[in-house]
Amino acid sequence: MHYFEYKNDQLYCESVPLRHIAEQVGTPVFVYSRSTLERHFKVFEEPFASVDHLICFSMKACSNIAILHVFSELGGGVDIVSGGELFRALKAGVDPSRVVYSGVGKTASEMDEALAAGILMFNVESEEELDLLDKRAQLLGTTARMAFRVNPDVDPRTHPYISTGMRRNKFGIQFDRATDLYLRAKEMVGIDPVGVDCHIGSQLTELSPFMDAVAKLRGLVEDLRKHDIDIRYLDIGGGLGIPYDEEDPPLPADYGAAILDGVSDLNLKLILEPGRLLTGNAGVMITKVLYLKQGPEKLFVIVDAAMNDLIRPSLYQAYHSVWKVQRKAGESDAGDRIVADIVGPICESGDFLAQARELEQVQSGDLLVLMSAGAYGFSMSSNYNSRPRAAEVLVDNERFYVIRQRETYDDLIRGERLPEGARPHRNRKGVHDVFRGLYRGSDSVQKRPGG
Ligand code: LLP
Repeated sequence: MHYFEYKNDQLYCESVPLRHIAEQVGTPVFVYSRSTLERHFKVFEEPFASVDHLICFSMKACSNIAILHVFSELGGGVDIVSGGELFRALKAGVDPSRVVYSGVGKTASEMDEALAAGILMFNVESEEELDLLDKRAQLLGTTARMAFRVNPDVDPRTHPYISTGMRRNKFGIQFDRATDLYLRAKEMVGIDPVGVDCHIGSQLTELSPFMDAVAKLRGLVEDLRKHDIDIRYLDIGGGLGIPYDEEDPPLPADYGAAILDGVSDLNLKLILEPGRLLTGNAGVMITKVLYLKQGPEKLFVIVDAAMNDLIRPSLYQAYHSVWKVQRKAGESDAGDRIVADIVGPICESGDFLAQARELEQVQSGDLLVLMSAGAYGFSMSSNYNSRPRAAEVLVDNERFYVIRQRETYDDLIRGERLPEGARPHRNRKGVHDVFRGLYRGSDSVQKRPGG
């Protein structure tokens, strides 16, 4: 459920017409609904109310500090995978004692940062990582609370790129080596093994893989307790899918009940790491139609957003519904419809946002909305083709806030420089003369065409 809906054929986010945002902030722009974010968090958390638990938003899904702040206000923590994510989380005011740190390639300096912050737990993914963590903790005169991320070898039945809990994947430690590794960890001065963790994949649309993984984890916890290893945290990871198109993923209530059924008697603190479920359908991307082009085989709707803004269709053949910001009265029924590929300006045939999509007639200047773009949308965007990244907006009832400014051309080259001694080629006109001439009143290169 989300708060993007038509009122008199105009698409609103909560009480704000998306057209207003596009007019004031430009396109492409990501728009998030605060009420939807809060609702998703609460609906996800509810089934766990009867047990000690912590919801750690997997912030790779949507890492804007304003979004992290929304969840942190609701008592949530975060699942991080880099020093950069720790930095963002701290900037957003997330309590470090609610941070868990996953990922197969943590560096020494990233470990140091997380140790200094005093995070709740490292989810360690290899024996060599454990050795380094022990060393860094000792050097800093502290101990690292940790869990092993175990690879339970269950098939999540999702896209191969986002399936992580099978033997062939790079993630986690081999399940049948886990007890031995915990026994090693227990002897280390800098290490305090306190938890067991897994994350088997993303966009799961069935419960059974979660239940299989939880059953395996339960067996491990019991075994470790027999070896006097006091496991206090059980981190189930994230992965619950959302409807993008026709999928019918389990409801959070059923997911929660299934997890609790497997572990509620273990007297552990449960950690959950939802990403997509919290933000996916709480965010959309607005883009403007630039041109229509009829090719010999296909109709192309060329828009001002591209694969650098939303890479999911190109990378995972992902489906995002396309809605019009202003639909014609009654047009949703039938009549004037087209089938088109919605493509961006990037110089690759893989640059598409939707393929062979049936939609209402569109024309140059129309605003389209890519739905369900709140997870792995902006956070996976890039500057490919030297395209400044989009703006992000948070809607709160009848108000909206720009929570990330559109990047400028200056942002594109921040940190770049010519090699020492190189003499800059002199343009007949300086770059700033060109852009100042186009955008009167702007001191620096603030805007971009169409933006
Ligand atoms: N925990 C860990 C350790 C993870 O690696 C992930 C996601 C999550 C939690 C959250 O999973 P979620 O609840 O969002 O399914 N870019 C891809 C998804 C990559 C997921 C990576 N790991 C996409 O756009 O579909």
